[in-house]
Amino acid sequence: MAVERTYLMVKPDGVQRGLCGEIVSRFEKKGLKLVAAKFTAISKATAESHYGEHKGKKFYDSLISYMTSGPVLAMVWEGDGAVAVCRGIMGKTNPQESAPGTIRGDFGMVTGMNLIHGSDSPESAAREISLFFRPEELMAYGRSADAWIYE
Ligand code: RTP
Ligand code: MG
Repeated sequence: MAVERTYLMVKPDGVQRGLCGEIVSRFEKKGLKLVAAKFTAISKATAESHYGEHKGKKFYDSLISYMTSGPVLAMVWEGDGAVAVCRGIMGKTNPQESAPGTIRGDFGMVTGMNLIHGSDSPESAAREISLFFRPEELMAYGRSADAWIYE
């Protein structure tokens, strides 16, 4: 088993549309373990650092203004292969290309309002987790249900 952590964030449109509970529920029901959560507004500097890889692209300015337009739900989730598993639950970047059953496929219509962020690699996850959380905010705890989720 390759236990990984990933950084997930319900974007401002997900918060405004009242989808936080629905979105959290999907990861919870899958069997992933919640390690940290924070309802917060992110600064322009934090948004720019988080999405630094996209600086210079044509959608960058609108992405930064979207991500700073209202509060977000920042989270860390843990599980076997969590990075890829969570990207699968989210769906493709463009909600119109996302399969039904995924978060973006079920609730989104356009790329610029695609509801949720998820780390794209374990390396990105480590960087993003440290951008949004202090080490002591990550909870270490046992979960008895794990005996019924993993062989
Ligand atoms: P995310 O980082 O938010 O999880 O999304 P992603 O990996 O699926 O997609 P990425 O290529 O990293 O793009 C980051 C976010 O920028 C916005 N975007 N807009 N209008 C456009 O062409 C465009 N392309 C990307 C989306 O909000 C996307 O999730
Ligand atoms: Mg990305």
